Amino acid sequence: MKPFQPYPYAYIRGSITPIDEAKVSIMTNALQYGIAVYGGVKGFPTDKGLQIFKLDEHVDRLKRSCEFLKFRYDFDEQAIKQIFVQLVRCNKPTGVTYFRPFIYRSDTKISPDIAGEYDFALYMLDMPAYFDNTKGTSVCISSWVRNHQKMIPPHTKASGGYINSALAIDEAHQRGYDSAVMLDIDGNISEGAVMNLFIVKDSKLITPSDDSDILLGITRATVLDLAKELGLSAEQRKVSKEELFTADEVFFTGTAANVSWCRQVEDKTFGDRPGIITQRIMDVFEALPQTHPEYYTEIRH
Ligand SMILES: Cc1ncc(COP(=O)(O)O)c(C=O)c1O
Repeated sequence: MKPFQPYPYAYIRGSITPIDEAKVSIMTNALQYGIAVYGGVKGFPTDKGLQIFKLDEHVDRLKRSCEFLKFRYDFDEQAIKQIFVQLVRCNKPTGVTYFRPFIYRSDTKISPDIAGEYDFALYMLDMPAYFDNTKGTSVCISSWVRNHQKMIPPHTKASGGYINSALAIDEAHQRGYDSAVMLDIDGNISEGAVMNLFIVKDSKLITPSDDSDILLGITRATVLDLAKELGLSAEQRKVSKEELFTADEVFFTGTAANVSWCRQVEDKTFGDRPGIITQRIMDVFEALPQTHPEYYTEIRH
């Protein structure tokens, strides 16, 4: 996979700066301890500018993550959205764009506590495609357990918590898989390393529930809404490993991955193309800019 190209301007410490100058001190607290939360937001080009998918929900999740973790949060959501607007106008993206907003502990005190100074930063990358959706995703079951809610709360996008995902992805790559599925502490399915997971059984969608140590994905919520519109029944509940292996279809959801069909879990192959229900979900998801313009915030260049 080619590295994604960054756009020339970023936002840090209260102003828009050339990306090469958007730097922090070696002593930055967040750099030592991962005391930060981040988001991943997608924008799609139009003739006039960019349509950003569910921007309000992403900005809200950033805020709720900070509040839950007791990070000092004195950022105004409207002001954060305005920074997206300003940065789009500076960078004038022409392709599919990935935004990385984050709030990080920016002071240089050498202690791993929560109290401290926090800064909001934002940069943008050109992101043509994350997974090759033509061949489907292969995953192993990770031997690493998903962060438990009493360890690093998985419903927050806490940066430090992603060591957990990184270990699972590394293990998957060592074993020749694209990515990993993680189990919760009780051995039930939690989610993919950086994606939520759905199974399809007897034409019904089933996805691990809130109490399965998942990130409550914005794409997951969208797919649950789409399922309702399509008249498909969808359950959010504990999902066992056995149910995953005996599913008719499996797919993943996430901002970077969109809806990605799963080809293989360990040595169980689900087929060489998306299942019928997965394909329907992929199709309606792709049509969202036309069918659900209300999901998008339009920013004109
Ligand atoms: C651990 C984890 N789960 C699920 C997701 C999918 O969430 P979303 O659909 O909000 O991008 C992500 C990506 O943000 C993630 O990092």
